[in-house]
Amino acid sequence: MIALGSDQGGYELKQEIIKYLEDNGLQYKDYGSYGPESVDYPEYGKAVAHAVKDGVCSKGILICGTGIGISIAANKIKGIRAALCTDCFMAEATRLHNNANILALGGRVVGTGLALKIVDTFLNTPFSGEERHQRRIDLLESEKDN
Ligand code: RB5
Repeated sequence: MIALGSDQGGYELKQEIIKYLEDNGLQYKDYGSYGPESVDYPEYGKAVAHAVKDGVCSKGILICGTGIGISIAANKIKGIRAALCTDCFMAEATRLHNNANILALGGRVVGTGLALKIVDTFLNTPFSGEERHQRRIDLLESEKDN
C-alpha cells in the first residue's frame, strides 16, 4: 500500500500519480488534501510519514509546490527518510543507498511525464542492502546527536 499526500501545489500531479497507480494495479491510500484549495503542507507530510512509520503503508509519495516543505515535514518523524527527487538518477540512488521510504516531488518543478518515471524508478528499485549503506542509515537515527 502506497501512502499519498499533497497540498494545493501538488494536488494536480497527485491526480496523475493516482491514475498511474491504478493503471498499474497498485494499491494506495490518499491522505489528502482532496482539492485544489490552499492547505498547510505539514499536516499532509506528517500524516503520510506516520502511515509509513506505523507500517500501514510500505512507502509514501508526497507532493507540494517544490517538494521541499512537505519533505521537511515528513523527515521530522523518526524512521522516515523522505527524498526530494527531480530526476530518475536521484530516485534510483536514494532507494539503493538511503533506502528512502518516501518520495517527495515538486508539482511546480517537474512535468507529469518525468514525475511518473521518477515514481516508477522509486517504486521498482530495491535497497542495495550493502553494509556501508545500512551503517549510514543507522547513523541517521543515532540518539547521540539529539
Ligand atoms: C505553497 O504555496 C507552497 O509553499 C508549498 O506547496 C511548498 O512548495 C512548500 O515547500
